[in-house]
Amino acid sequence: MNLLDSHDTIRAVVYTGETLRLLDQRRLPFEEIHLDCHSAVDVAEAIRNLVVRGAPAIGIAAAWGVVLEARNLAAAGQAVSAQTLEPVLAHLNAARPTAVNLAWALARMRGVLVRAPQDTVMALTTEAQSIQDEDLAANRRMGQLGAGLISAGSGVLTHCNTGSLATAGFGTALGVIRAGVAAGKIAQVYAGETRPWLQGARLTMWELARDRIPAKLIADSAAAHLMKSGAVQWVIVGADRVAANGDTANKIGTYQLAIAARHHGVKFMVVAPASTVDMATLDGSHIEIELRDATELLSVAGKRTVIEGAEAWNPVFDITPASLIDALVTECGVIEQPDARCMREVFSLASHAPT
Ligand code: MRU
Repeated sequence: MNLLDSHDTIRAVVYTGETLRLLDQRRLPFEEIHLDCHSAVDVAEAIRNLVVRGAPAIGIAAAWGVVLEARNLAAAGQAVSAQTLEPVLAHLNAARPTAVNLAWALARMRGVLVRAPQDTVMALTTEAQSIQDEDLAANRRMGQLGAGLISAGSGVLTHCNTGSLATAGFGTALGVIRAGVAAGKIAQVYAGETRPWLQGARLTMWELARDRIPAKLIADSAAAHLMKSGAVQWVIVGADRVAANGDTANKIGTYQLAIAARHHGVKFMVVAPASTVDMATLDGSHIEIELRDATELLSVAGKRTVIEGAEAWNPVFDITPASLIDALVTECGVIEQPDARCMREVFSLASHAPT
């Protein structure tokens, strides 16, 4: 095993040939429990309830959800077609609104159905596997490209979980961190805890410990203080949707990190595959921000921390304007200071618009 492989051992979304087996991310880090999905409805529920989460991972899971449903239809002797599967595609697509990878993956599965191949189940299976394999390849490429931007001895801060748990494997921002650590470029990794669901504390810290990458957890509210200390040279985050002008939707708290980074002269890197780029959305103001249940904010680990009767507002994504982004890393290359013109040069509307 080379150094890079030993830093990449986790796979959270596995198609077994019969079921979609998901590592239940609600239970990490203390319980490693897998949940088997048997239908698209099971997969949609798993996406909605955050059993599987992270933009690329939910697209991949949804693609396998279509395969499961096609197999169920075929087993019941029913037609497997664009018409019979459309309600399933719509149901999966409605599971979460912000990450464009969901609509993107379903558009690819719909494309197979529209071509009406002879063996539709086989063709859908091949497409879902390609979506998964391409994501892993994109992550490895982005890892190289992103690590190339980092000077030796740097400290980096990341947010949420953007690793193997959130993708087909390796990760987006965490893939750059994996590659940067393996190349000896990164001296210290800091992870923000990512209130309220604690993806940073529960998932990123678990993933990094499992892959033997030393990291320090910080309270989200410690980020500006950390930047002021000079300990970090890059903030490295993923994305759930990158609009045509480079504005980026990502986990709540990303925007304030970008503002603090600019103030302190710390560079800000967004790492996302082309499947996260949505050239059909003009700018960040058109991106739907998911609002989740207030209970996520009113309790910690299921224990209520706020007075009964209190209300809460729980948007789980925010928009970082392109002007605060120093580098957008995709598998197609690095875009420095992204804007509408250079986004157009790299991504054509036709090949990246979800349907
Ligand atoms: O609500 P989540 O946990 O699905 O949000 C995930 C994020 O915001 C990630 O940063 C983003 O999806 C990039 S993951 C490679």
